Amino acid sequence: MEIAEYFPQLNYPMNGKRLCYLDTGATSLKPKSVIKSLAEHLEKHASNVHRGIYRISEENTTAFEQVRNLVKNFIGANSTKEIIFTKGTTESINLVAHSFSEQYLSDGDLVLITEMEHHSNIVPWQLVAKKKNLKIKVVPINDQGELILDEYQTLLKERPKLVAFTAVSNTLGTINPIHEIVAMAKKSGAYTLIDAAQALPHYKLNVADLGVDFLAFSAHKFYGPTGLGVLYGREELLEKMPPYQGGGNMIASVSFLETTFNELPEKFEAGTPAIAEVIAFGKAIDFFNSIGHSRAREIDHHLKLECEDMLKSFKDITIFGEAKKKVAIFSFGIKGAHPHDIGQILDKEGIAVRTGHHCTQPLMKRFGVTHMVRASFGIYNNSEDIKQFKQGLQKVRDFLL
Ligand code: ALA
Repeated sequence: MEIAEYFPQLNYPMNGKRLCYLDTGATSLKPKSVIKSLAEHLEKHASNVHRGIYRISEENTTAFEQVRNLVKNFIGANSTKEIIFTKGTTESINLVAHSFSEQYLSDGDLVLITEMEHHSNIVPWQLVAKKKNLKIKVVPINDQGELILDEYQTLLKERPKLVAFTAVSNTLGTINPIHEIVAMAKKSGAYTLIDAAQALPHYKLNVADLGVDFLAFSAHKFYGPTGLGVLYGREELLEKMPPYQGGGNMIASVSFLETTFNELPEKFEAGTPAIAEVIAFGKAIDFFNSIGHSRAREIDHHLKLECEDMLKSFKDITIFGEAKKKVAIFSFGIKGAHPHDIGQILDKEGIAVRTGHHCTQPLMKRFGVTHMVRASFGIYNNSEDIKQFKQGLQKVRDFLL
């Protein structure tokens, strides 16, 4: 069976044309097993978790905790205490920004981020920097869209307390040398956070192997449901960090005089979690495991080479960022055409791309533009998509230029 056949949405045309879905960087399509799990849960298995002693609730609690264990094994964490379910990568980073900085950062401390960060790894630090009087500095990138490691080394001399960076750029597709970045940070005594939202769908990450302190990702970019993310945190750090939100489930006891908090991971999971989504995410991980990391890398590598060649066959296309190591994510512009117009014409041809600033406005500034068109690929894409994409781009040129 072709991988695309596991994704029913690909059977539904868009604007009467075969759907060519090139927006996996924004969210992935979902395999049948994930859809089935969500539907079954909502149809016949709804209940809360960790609260009921009746059968359905207990079964859901078991299924929910099994997924936590699956995630733990998937990323190589030591314990399920280190796996916190959140709303998404954004909430995972906000949790760290709020709670880690409360315990570990103080007046004048430096946080290092990079020029290619998504807004979700910039703004949380700015919010907390204002409150705690922290400094934020930025590791620059070169014209190819790669981090300048010499500049990073220089910034490390200022003894940052934390280095927070993306493993893969959502806009450029650059694969950062995460092992090297973490090792350099650790050598200078800094804690580390990796935004793995775009990386996880492409290659294996092992937190123990990396020695990273925090890692954040979303289920919905990894063939799972929306509204769910994961924060991995080193147990020793999470233990000392104060809760992020207050409410049900995160407490041990409550009185009007004093509240004590639950153990990890519940301390950071206030309120009813995304139960159906967590259970369905387990199916997404199973699905991905059945394909395997090496096949996923291979598919991505071929798509990257094919798309790159295709885009380069157009003289008036500029690809932004051409890192030596990158995944199949291409942001580009066409001379004389506005990205939104390009997106609209492609839409009519059944091609879904993202247009805009891709939540990376500082990166847009670095490349001297305000908008780009982005094509980002998933495990279900194939040469047929590249062909359709090429024809779509030809239509854009015929129409606009
Ligand atoms: N962060 C997502 C993207 O890059 C939404 O499109």
